[in-house]
Amino acid sequence: MFLLIIINHNLSFGLADGAWSVLCAGHNNNRVRACDAYGCGAFNSRRFVGAKLHKAVDIVCDDLGVIQAPFSGNVSGPVSYTDPKGNQYEGVKLIGKGTSDLHCVKLLNVRPYRYTGSVTRGGAVGYVLPLQDRFSGITSHVKVQMCDGSDPAALL
Ligand SMILES: *[C@@H]1O[C@H](CO)[C@@H](O)[C@H](O)[C@H]1NC(C)=O
Repeated sequence: MFLLIIINHNLSFGLADGAWSVLCAGHNNNRVRACDAYGCGAFNSRRFVGAKLHKAVDIVCDDLGVIQAPFSGNVSGPVSYTDPKGNQYEGVKLIGKGTSDLHCVKLLNVRPYRYTGSVTRGGAVGYVLPLQDRFSGITSHVKVQMCDGSDPAALL
């Protein structure tokens, strides 16, 4: 009986409307970066006094770890981001059809394997660019930013 409940729970979670699969290969969930010496990963966190709010969520991944598409759709070209201190990050945009809406997301600090074509949920799309070289001791992560600037928390 107990086992049955767990199986049902996992099934319904996997099929939940809009829920994304795990981004970082080898991880069990999409864990938001807690605060470290360089900042915090939560949506709307502030990096330093006077900085703009973080309109993205940082998901904990390992340097050079494989990134998996959180939903099926298309890879749609390179994107980049420059933080307030002038550090540059590259990445890729993914566009997919949810069960009830369109998902458009930028994955930053990622080197994609390609910039066009279709991807299947869970399929490898690239790898995490090393952060430790530049920011020793930072929690390595991928920055997940919805194209419309909304909070992806409910999807993660
Ligand atoms: C993905 O690309 C194909 C081929 O261009 C297109 O038909 C399809 O609508 C695209 N899907 C999404 C979700 O944008």
